[in-house]
Amino acid sequence: MRKPIIAGNWKMNNTVAGTKQLLSELLPLVGDVTETEVVVCVPFTDIATAAAMTAGTNVKVGAQNVAWADKGAFTGEISADMLKEAGAEYVIIGHSERRQYFGETDESVNKRTVQALKNGLKPIVCVGETLAEREGGITEEVLCRQLEGGFSGIASEQMAQIVVAYEPVWAIGTGKTATSAQAEETIAYIRGKLAAMFGKKTADAVRIQYGGSMNPSNAKELMAQPDIDGGLIGGASLKAPDFTAVVKYNG
Ligand code: 13P
Repeated sequence: MRKPIIAGNWKMNNTVAGTKQLLSELLPLVGDVTETEVVVCVPFTDIATAAAMTAGTNVKVGAQNVAWADKGAFTGEISADMLKEAGAEYVIIGHSERRQYFGETDESVNKRTVQALKNGLKPIVCVGETLAEREGGITEEVLCRQLEGGFSGIASEQMAQIVVAYEPVWAIGTGKTATSAQAEETIAYIRGKLAAMFGKKTADAVRIQYGGSMNPSNAKELMAQPDIDGGLIGGASLKAPDFTAVVKYNG
């Protein structure tokens, strides 16, 4: 059985003061949830604060990127050691915003994923097609390339520790969610592709999230789909009541 995982991706929002405010509202609401894994992926400068505040609760802290090198001349990057020391357990890799604005490629996603695994950080690896790609009928081709490139050289045992986030780019921040049928169909395709790459047993163990305008009103239906194991939540993760309602999608 795959344990559901709901992760907030705060993106570039919240200073330390904002983090304290949001977590002080959120932790009393979701801090003791056990049936679902709850993660907040916060900006680098908020990780230590979030880790201190969530200590002793069931909420885990994640980062939003990690360098592929251990250390050295990589201005602007952050190492796995630094993230772990600050208190991160998860790390988002290859978000579409990083692919779109910061030149992230399947190859760099792969290198960052390998580095996260090597250092005991749990990767949440994002894949997803653009609107033009969906309308052009090449969604599966795009996902196939992202999965083969992103997970190249990774062993089955390692793959089982990775969370995959399927985020159709056209549904991110647009209020336009994939229908639950669309999301299920595509995520089932991803699981099938992982089965071809890593074997069915591994593919059955990998948790796959949906992301893209997931909110309190659509979370339950999305989470009811057999292959959808969680959500990666942007906008709705910035409001404690909304994020709570997604975490507690079953009411
Ligand atoms: P929204 O929930 O704001 O659409 O963002 C989704 C996302 O990009 C999560 O990583």
